[in-house]
Amino acid sequence: MRLILLGPPGAGKGTQAQRLTTNQGLVQLSTGDMLRAAVKAGTAIGLKAKAVMDSGALVSDEIVVGIIAERIDQPDCRKGFILDGFPRTTKQAEALDKMLAERKLKLDAVIEMKVNDSVLVERITGRFTCGKCGAGYHDKFQPTRQPGVCDRCGSTEFTRRADDNADTVVSRLKAYHEQTAPLLPYYEGRGILKQVDGMAEIDEVTRQIEGILASL
Ligand code: AP5
Ligand code: MG
Repeated sequence: MRLILLGPPGAGKGTQAQRLTTNQGLVQLSTGDMLRAAVKAGTAIGLKAKAVMDSGALVSDEIVVGIIAERIDQPDCRKGFILDGFPRTTKQAEALDKMLAERKLKLDAVIEMKVNDSVLVERITGRFTCGKCGAGYHDKFQPTRQPGVCDRCGSTEFTRRADDNADTVVSRLKAYHEQTAPLLPYYEGRGILKQVDGMAEIDEVTRQIEGILASL
């Protein structure tokens, strides 16, 4: 199974992708997570990407296409993957088509997470992540069961993203509407676009996605 989760910043792509990896055994391929890892490691790509990410703009197509092309050839991707945050431009979508065609693979579905812009700032400014295992949380909508302790691995170290502030969110949303939203008609035209209500509670969104997967 090969899926794309498409939606604005804070729509819940990462939250739902993490659940799909646990429940369906799929691999989550988040270009945002990969770029943040490159920034942290201080690689050449990380050095190029940092300022762009901090401003809320998109990193070059060339960089992210290269990252994904390399990643999907790794053995853990053979059973399938969920693309979280890729593609984000028409050029990236075309590069993905080419990459999959060359490997004789097809996309099963593109799932749009529909969310009103008005809730996204609150979702993003309340987000935090376990520094050890990467589990995602939210101060209000998805707190840890025990305050200050990760539910999944028990770590007490958490991180907040450098781009998770109200100013940068505005630029990230602008980039989404201008550069990524045109992918919706692109995939609709091929009959693989599905939609879920990203405004619903997290468990309900998971149920809707699982319903779509069961129907494929
Ligand atoms: P990326 O890391 O992909 O960020 P994003 O697209 O802005 O999306 P987010 O990760 O902010 O949101 P999400 O949908 O994953 O939400 P989450 O599940 O965490 O990209 C970062 C940057 O990297 C980009 O700006 C760009 O510079 C660069 N980049 C990455 N990919 C690129 C590409 N392909 N091309 C070019 N540049 C690229 O949820 C948010 C919060 O809300 C969480 O706290 C969660 O607990 C909570 N929440 C989730 N669902 C719900 C719900 N249903 N109800 C209430 N709360 C909820
Ligand atoms: Mg994410």
